Amino acid sequence: MHVADHPLITHKLTVLRDERTPSPTFRSLVGELMTLLAYEATRNVRVAPKEIRTPVTTTVGVAIAEPRPIVVPILRAGLGMLEGMTTMVPTAEVGFLGMARNEETLEPYTYAERLPDDLSDRQCFVLDPMLATGGSLSAAMQYLFDRGAVDVTAICLLGTPEGIERIERDMGDHDVTIVLGALDERLNEQGFIVPGLGDAGDRLYGTVGD
Ligand code: PRP
Repeated sequence: MHVADHPLITHKLTVLRDERTPSPTFRSLVGELMTLLAYEATRNVRVAPKEIRTPVTTTVGVAIAEPRPIVVPILRAGLGMLEGMTTMVPTAEVGFLGMARNEETLEPYTYAERLPDDLSDRQCFVLDPMLATGGSLSAAMQYLFDRGAVDVTAICLLGTPEGIERIERDMGDHDVTIVLGALDERLNEQGFIVPGLGDAGDRLYGTVGD
């Protein structure tokens, strides 16, 4: 687990947490935060040597290796992070997982999926602003490992100690990294992160009925 410790990230998170921040500002801040967190999260992205010619000489640089990484936003709220990530890794493939929590049991259910069946040898980046109980992220990661993913990095704006523990417990020996904007204090009885920022999906896109 890596918790970003950077004044710009903490500043932007503070504005996100403020209940008076309206949706348009909220959306643009989520994008900016994603760009900053992508820098940390892609530290181990696989690259291959690439020879190029500069105006002066030839040299060997790097390019993102094949097979390309795959980015998986968890709908709805993860969608708000997608553009920030694809700006940083434009050649990544994008797959989608739609998941929502049952508001009473807090158990996640999957309502949409658009991903390659075979993820063998792929590096995956899961985007979801909130790691609360960890149920959604655990199910998403399991889904990717079941299809052969080699390593999975989750990028979340906020997480809880309870959620991190759940991922550690559920993922066993799998190669998992979690990059957080901040590790918050705890979960409350309703499964919300405290102090948190409320419901990220609602604040990005407004409330919808189930
Ligand atoms: C929220 C959030 C995560 C999940 C986190 O989604 O975006 O996906 O809950 O909770 P967990 O760690 O306890 O599983 P929600 O179910 O509200 O759906 P939405 O993104 O469509 O609003």
